[in-house]
Amino acid sequence: MNSIVEKLKKHFSEALVAAFGAEFAEVDPLINPTNNPKFGDYQCNLAMSLTKRLKQNPREIAKQIVENLNVADLCQTPEIAGPGFINLKIKPSYLEGALSGIQKDPRLGVEKAQKQQKIVVDFSSPNIAKEMHVGHLRSTIIGDSIARILEFRGHDVLRLNHVGDWGTQFGMLIAYLRETYPKALTTADALDLGDLNLFYKQSKKRFDDDEEFKETARKEVVKLQSGQADSRNAWQLLCDQSRREFQKIYDRLDIDLNERGESFYNPFLADVVQELDEKGLLEESDGAKCVFLEGFTNKAGDPLPLIVKKSDGGFNYATTDLAALKYRINRDEADRIIYVTDSGQSNHFAGVFQVAKRAKILPENIEVVHVPFGLVLGEDGKKFRARSGESVKLKDLLDEAVDRARAALESVLVEEGRNESKEFIDSVGNTVGISAVKYADLSQNRTSDYKFSYDKMLELKGNTAPYLLYAYVRVQGISRKGDIDFNNLPENIEIVLKQEEELALAKHILQLSEIITGIEKDLFLNRLGDYLYELSKKYNQFYEQCPVLQAEEPIKTSRLVLSDLTARTLKLGLSLLGISVLERM
Ligand code: ARG
Repeated sequence: MNSIVEKLKKHFSEALVAAFGAEFAEVDPLINPTNNPKFGDYQCNLAMSLTKRLKQNPREIAKQIVENLNVADLCQTPEIAGPGFINLKIKPSYLEGALSGIQKDPRLGVEKAQKQQKIVVDFSSPNIAKEMHVGHLRSTIIGDSIARILEFRGHDVLRLNHVGDWGTQFGMLIAYLRETYPKALTTADALDLGDLNLFYKQSKKRFDDDEEFKETARKEVVKLQSGQADSRNAWQLLCDQSRREFQKIYDRLDIDLNERGESFYNPFLADVVQELDEKGLLEESDGAKCVFLEGFTNKAGDPLPLIVKKSDGGFNYATTDLAALKYRINRDEADRIIYVTDSGQSNHFAGVFQVAKRAKILPENIEVVHVPFGLVLGEDGKKFRARSGESVKLKDLLDEAVDRARAALESVLVEEGRNESKEFIDSVGNTVGISAVKYADLSQNRTSDYKFSYDKMLELKGNTAPYLLYAYVRVQGISRKGDIDFNNLPENIEIVLKQEEELALAKHILQLSEIITGIEKDLFLNRLGDYLYELSKKYNQFYEQCPVLQAEEPIKTSRLVLSDLTARTLKLGLSLLGISVLERM
């Protein structure tokens, strides 16, 4: 148990029991970091919430808690303020000891979870024959970072790409290609994804306008589903084509994923529908088989259905998700299943989860979570589009970010009269560009829409990737200038924290563990971004006020350790966001 908050919580629980009895052992002590140093470093708001239960006034309650509180090793004497807040200020000696304690620890004090779980993260999940869009980019970046954090906590994470590779669209597309471009169905690489996408759109139009074509397309689906060889081959080629394009994006973003598309669950769909029927949940509505949902109604107040078998006999997105859920629970033995998609799918998942619970496919002890996110908007606040009005291709988006990052670097080099190799410029441009795109996304509260702005995300000031990367580079600059090998600082260094900036930085470094364990629960990655941004700001304040290389010993080495710990915290934190640091930029 490393984090200060956890230690405080334990002490407060003990104090509560001592003051009010064993039945208070389970009460959450409501301890939070303060945002104003006037109130100390942490504050406990518990007294106010206990007034009813204890029938006493909150200041009196706070007094009794403090009298029973044993935090002398951690804090200065607690102070009671206002209606009954308990303000806690951490002792410098505690901070010094805690920093020494993590100085050689590659995990920087973040322990592995006590109970290691099997966790499925379902993310990215683009659709075959369609271009991956910005929404899939969000899912990819957010899902990857969630997976990284859970892996770091020691969980066994299964990263699944639930690719849309099944369904009527393939009948449509294959039927259309048979007519217009049969070569694409027998030859690898006859199309690129852009063409495929165009064919997809044309086939959709034919499908909507032409009854006869609709029928041909339906027959094509049946052929595919019954496993007829030439249809299967054609389908396989189309999938491979898309897969290769997707992989290029994943490589550039350094994303690791296992593809297990919708088609994988095809053999289980009929069984799932039968199971719902046997459990008495299935009803018929307009020829479709569905389960009526509890608590979901349309405008007229009628219950909404979750359709699992369409009137034409086909299964759909929800059927597949029910089968996938069952598979993940029974075969993958997942304890927790996380789905990363846009908020538009919230009702879909709520429906699937409800039906799975009612059908006892989903037991109580397994946690399923939909992690919704908002839209990516253009700078005009409207849907993000290319100048042509088309949706933006991810490849172009990443290229542009990298080009702009490189151009910005080149102009700095000219300004500073620096001469760097082409490799250096390419590598820094690439890292900064990609990091900026990822960070701009991950630093937002994911539930809100955000405006995509190359200019903003590449700024060297503010909560941006370049700002954080630069803070890291600053520390490496100290090591170069002072010829310091951070990996070989002497053992048993005495850490001395005197200046306000040193204390603030030390406290912040020691909060990493709280941040990570918080995100493990609520999956809000912007908390890590905020933390790292704050860390960089605190480091820059420290850097301006506290000379490092010029200081006398033991202060000098102590400040070197503080610098090194900052850099390592940044490196670790950024790596959990899928971002790598640069030694120079
Ligand atoms: N392919 C879907 C889409 O593009 C996302 C799939 C998400 N995962 C799932 N199990 N439904 O919207």
